[in-house]
Amino acid sequence: MTVRDADPSEARQLAQVWYDAWQDSHVRLVPAELAAHRTPESFHERVEAAITRTRAAGALGAPVGLCIIKQDELEQLFVAAAARGTGAAAALLADGEERLRRGGTRLAWLACAIGNDRAARFYEKHGWTRAGVMTYQAVTASATFPLETWRYEKAL
Ligand SMILES: CC(C)(COP(=O)(O)OP(=O)(O)OC[C@H]1O[C@@H](n2cnc3c(N)ncnc32)[C@H](O)[C@@H]1OP(=O)(O)O)[C@@H](O)C(=O)NCCC(=O)NCCS
Repeated sequence: MTVRDADPSEARQLAQVWYDAWQDSHVRLVPAELAAHRTPESFHERVEAAITRTRAAGALGAPVGLCIIKQDELEQLFVAAAARGTGAAAALLADGEERLRRGGTRLAWLACAIGNDRAARFYEKHGWTRAGVMTYQAVTASATFPLETWRYEKAL
């Protein structure tokens, strides 16, 4: 599975992948107050704001997954349901780790919604360790929302 830079021209398609994957994995795990912020338009705005930090899997204009990094954080990793179990997520994760490493990060971290067992299994399978529970400041359009999450770490 090819991993490549995300292109601004496909922001809508990337937002759709992210929105759909967020709906099928996170909506049941987070407070309704946070879920209310997660409209389709909010994902479009966030993907546009983060496009230079975003890598995509799949063809230009038809992405099946995306990975966003932020400083020493693997900030987002979302793959379309149809592409799960295909190696696309593993390719995006390896690429994200390499980008972090090249940027100077030696200890990478990520927040995983408590109860997201598939993601937890996936990260652990790829060498990430659950360091504990932390309060993560989930970004919304106007502010941040404090969310209890699992913290994962990996030495790069
Ligand atoms: C998390 C995600 C990126 C992982 O990608 P993937 O292609 O599904 O990952 P894989 O199939 O390689 O690995 C998932 C593992 O979880 C296992 N699994 C599946 N459902 C599970 C469940 N309900 N509970 C626990 N483990 C589960 C799979 O069997 C597999 O383990 P195995 O390889 O030992 O059999 C992808 O599922 C996804 O995008 N999910 C929705 C968005 C999301 O949660 N993103 C993470 C945000 S922190």
